[in-house]
Amino acid sequence: MNILVTGGAGFIGSNHVRMLIGKTDDRVVNLDLLTYAGNLENLTGIEDHPRYRFVKGDIRDADLVASLLAEESIDAVIHFAAESHVDRSLDAPGAFLDTNTRGTQVLLQCALKHELDCFVMVSTDEVYGSLDPHAPGFTEETPLAPNSPYAASKAAADLLCRAYHHTFGLDVRITRCSNNYGPYQFPEKLIPLMIANALEDRSLPVYGDGQQVRDWLHVSDHCRAIDLVLRQGRAGEVYNVGGRNEWANLDLVKRLLEILDKPESLIEFVKDRPGHDRRYAIVADKIRGELSWQPTFAFGDGLAQTVQWYLDNRNWWEKIRSGEYRAYYDSMYGDGGRYQGRS
Ligand code: NAD
Ligand code: DAU
Repeated sequence: MNILVTGGAGFIGSNHVRMLIGKTDDRVVNLDLLTYAGNLENLTGIEDHPRYRFVKGDIRDADLVASLLAEESIDAVIHFAAESHVDRSLDAPGAFLDTNTRGTQVLLQCALKHELDCFVMVSTDEVYGSLDPHAPGFTEETPLAPNSPYAASKAAADLLCRAYHHTFGLDVRITRCSNNYGPYQFPEKLIPLMIANALEDRSLPVYGDGQQVRDWLHVSDHCRAIDLVLRQGRAGEVYNVGGRNEWANLDLVKRLLEILDKPESLIEFVKDRPGHDRRYAIVADKIRGELSWQPTFAFGDGLAQTVQWYLDNRNWWEKIRSGEYRAYYDSMYGDGGRYQGRS
């Protein structure tokens, strides 16, 4: 197959490109704008592979997308490209609508004209909104109720995919996954941020009471799920993906400190994220039953391996943290920042 991956220089996209190059015979064209979150160092070692091509460009550029689909005889699109960080969407929602929603519509329109075989939309469990502590998890039938601008922009994109299938017959398949962790995750997200801060003996900013719950899944298990949906899934279907692995943020941060042998006194409770979703939990029975998918990583092993990756690749995250990202961190967590001070 000839596959166009969008956002393949980001966290999940780069893990997916590595998997495709390493484990399949597919040709992979990676279209990525290299925003602050896109990093070609995530793809070191495969840049010269004969089945791989990188194109720096914007998913919102219809001419570019159309020409790539044609000249590379693309069979399938796997769409990762997005503005992905909830906190940033609170300060600059416009960029989220523009990239996540309009960008997805541009891709869908180009896919339709090209008569693409299959479009996989990498959506998110955040489209379902927030769960009460003892409520059953999200199923594919749970009504969408996004709470942040990020989640709303993804929900709109997700529904556009549904519409292009329903109205125009485009073969679109949607995955809605829970929180990922693993190598190459940008250090603005909870797990890498806490690992990096702990290694530098800086405080660990826990939002609110730290009792918000997330359902963590190793990135390679997410990538395998996406691959199964592409090869064996059904057109027009939604597949939830999750690890049945719920952790309160505070417990997870304490676990990381234990692995790193650092004191809990580094934890600092800061102001809560406005509109903060209390709990996510995914019921992944459909993909388990229909596509025989299941997570392969036990969380303890995956977390220990991930911590080891950040220890072994200090240079990767130190470079990020010493550059442009430094200003973002100060604006969020520094004096006068959104998450300054004790809650
Ligand atoms: P990320 O922020 O690490 O990577 C996003 C990538 O998209 C970057 O390489 C960036 O340069 C690229 N990009 C942004 N705007 C672009 C544009 N206009 N044109 C081309 N490329 C552009 O994100 P991630 O965490 O790897 O998430 C990837 C996808 O998976 C997103 O769609 C996200 O909503 C979804 N998702 C993420 C998680 C998670 O836990 N991280 C869970 C479920 C779903
Ligand atoms: O559920 C899937 C989603 O998971 C994806 O769609 C998003 O792209 C991805 O960013 C992630 O969203 P979250 O908001 O859940 O992830 P984040 O890593 O930002 O935060 C995880 C939890 O940790 C959340 O409850 C907020 C909290 N948190 C986060 C940061 C960065 C803190 O307490 N302190 C922090 O400094």
